[in-house]
Amino acid sequence: EGARPIPGPKPLPLIGNLRDLPSGRTMQRLLELSTQYGPMFVLHAADGPRYIASGLEMIDDLCDDTRFVKYVGAGQRELRKTQSSAGLFTADSDDPMWRSAHDILLPAFSQRAIRAYVPLMVDIADQLLLKWERLNPGESIDVTGDMTRLTLDTIALCGFGYRFNSFYRDTQHPFVGAMMGALNESQARQRIPPAVVRMRRGAQRALEADMQFMQDTVQQILSERRASGEPGDDLLGHMLVGTDKEGRPLPDDNIVSQCITFLVAGHETTSGLLSFAISYLLKAPDVVARAQAEVDEVLGTDLSAAPTAAQIGKLTYVTQILEETLRLWPTAPAFTRQPLEDTTVGGFEFRAGTPIVAASIALHRNTDVWGDDAWEFDPDHFAPERREGRPPNAYKPFGSGVRACIGRQFALQEAILVLAMVLQRFELVDHADYRLRIQESLTLKPDGLTIQVRPRAGRT
Ligand code: HEM
Repeated sequence: EGARPIPGPKPLPLIGNLRDLPSGRTMQRLLELSTQYGPMFVLHAADGPRYIASGLEMIDDLCDDTRFVKYVGAGQRELRKTQSSAGLFTADSDDPMWRSAHDILLPAFSQRAIRAYVPLMVDIADQLLLKWERLNPGESIDVTGDMTRLTLDTIALCGFGYRFNSFYRDTQHPFVGAMMGALNESQARQRIPPAVVRMRRGAQRALEADMQFMQDTVQQILSERRASGEPGDDLLGHMLVGTDKEGRPLPDDNIVSQCITFLVAGHETTSGLLSFAISYLLKAPDVVARAQAEVDEVLGTDLSAAPTAAQIGKLTYVTQILEETLRLWPTAPAFTRQPLEDTTVGGFEFRAGTPIVAASIALHRNTDVWGDDAWEFDPDHFAPERREGRPPNAYKPFGSGVRACIGRQFALQEAILVLAMVLQRFELVDHADYRLRIQESLTLKPDGLTIQVRPRAGRT
């Protein structure tokens, strides 16, 4: 029996399918091509074929951890090059340090452990709410900007007890500037031939300086923490006292890499989620009404009482809104896998090591799985009774298996808390009749989203 050919748009001589991967629209284009060419298609890039999977049968195969492992892509490899020890996100699956760090950090990210972060998350959420409360009538809010301030400050505070104080400054904290510089450069390099990358000496020096600055900052926090004799109960504290299954602690340079990784992996994704959720709520008054009724019942109308972890657990409809948002716009829209040995994916044959993209963005809109209204925003896609019958791999916003997102509960707890506190206090005003446009960088976010807010009546 011969291998079935994999469909895809016709490549042009020399440039292949370059025009099908427009910079700044790549993910949206992959979504369009998936609806056109089906659950497995191929694109020809400069450095070889790219296989894109979005059918349930294909994703089931790719998520089988006995046959597939994470493929660390070019952008992730660039980031790793500047660190002496790889963080969880960029490590190869057979890196022994990944296993040690994973074992030490897993309990620190458990549902139970992250409940301890609720007061810290409330602290930062209060800063956002205060800013919004103090706006004059007619002033508008840059939603993605403020949500990024919030998520950055939250992960730095819960991660290693550091305050960026983003709500109190006009310009970025130098650490954030360095991080953005490093991320932009490592992403840009994916589109530049290696020989040209080597010629860009200035860019290389800037990248090294940015990484060094971040490492020095975190190393200093770590040293001060050790000197104080109190490890602390944030993520850094867990890493300072934790040991892996062989009883070994993490070396300092790896702890530093992990702290930087949390910021990189944890802020844009969560801020994009909150921003997309708000963009949908602007157009869905029924959903807002139902969510506000839930929030009023669970949190009450006394605004001075800080929400608790137990209350966050009861906000089931707010949770459905966020899950539905991540279905339509998974802010990390794909993850890449590679087979350990020659094998098949959805009936197509692949050689060991071939990178295959699991396009959650397209899987999540597959009408076979999600029904005819797969492209519509409806939080009842996650109603308890509909959740039950759904195949386990139909929804993959946090990746899969042992390399899935370790920050998932953290991100959801933060997003539920913030969205609930916003809905408790404000009516969202769609002052500019917002039309969703997508901004693609490392992650997806709504482009140019501004709102106004009005305090809700009867709340003190
Ligand atoms: C991995 C999504 C929030 C830390 C991942 C992966 C996805 C993802 C899809 C798998 C990547 C791959 O297979 O290549 C998201 C989304 C988030 C979110 C959508 C928010 C809505 C966070 C937060 C943190 C975090 C808040 C940290 C506090 C990580 C880490 C990994 C990871 C460390 C690598 C895990 C490993 O390979 O061992 N995330 N993430 N993420 N995420 Fe998240």
